[in-house]
Amino acid sequence: MFKGVLFDLDGVLTDTAEYHYQAWQRLGKEIGITIDRAFNEELKGVSREDSLKLLLAHGGRAQDFDSEQFAELAKRKNEYYVEMIQEVSPADVYPGILNLLKDLKKQGIKISLASASKNGPFLLERMSLLPYFDGIADPADVAKGKPDPEIFQLAAEKVGLTVRDCIGIEDAKAGIQAILASGALPIGVGRPEDLGTDIVLVSSTKELTVDLLVSVWQTARN
Ligand code: G6P
Ligand code: MG
Repeated sequence: MFKGVLFDLDGVLTDTAEYHYQAWQRLGKEIGITIDRAFNEELKGVSREDSLKLLLAHGGRAQDFDSEQFAELAKRKNEYYVEMIQEVSPADVYPGILNLLKDLKKQGIKISLASASKNGPFLLERMSLLPYFDGIADPADVAKGKPDPEIFQLAAEKVGLTVRDCIGIEDAKAGIQAILASGALPIGVGRPEDLGTDIVLVSSTKELTVDLLVSVWQTARN
């Protein structure tokens, strides 16, 4: 049986993926780059700096900013984002997540955070979810972000497990690639058009129960 669950945050525990999108859109607009939801799928799960690189390349402006200006743009996007998440509260936790965390805890299954966001601990705190997490992988400690597996490996390590013994839950293409590369078993939250058809997907976090996780594990690993 699996011994741990490695959670992405934005778009899995709550709707902050939407705020990231809005913050990138706002920044993009200021520098003449328009983005839509289809392009945003490429940004999901990707670190702040890598997202900015993708945004600039998308707008054909990859060469237009020196490193100081690049850092200012990244900082500005984060300021827009941080402004939007100030009022996040326990009411914003996605349906089914709190019960899942409680049931995992009851069964002694470890819970760890594998988010690329440096705002992760702040958000867990705002949603009163911190006490459920046995470990948090700090994205500042990984050399390569998603789709590289490192953050999932670190999240498993933080709770004393090997990644093969864990399920990873993600809403982003880059995140699912990272889970697959790590050796954990992925469950995706989202649409097959965005996330593919080769892994188990749920359309809503409401469907994420311990029973579902057990059955996905048994089907894949036994
Ligand atoms: C998550 C989100 C991304 C975001 C990244 C970095 O992976 O899905 O959209 O760019 O975290 O977040 P941060 O809060 O550190 O800018
Ligand atoms: Mg996400």
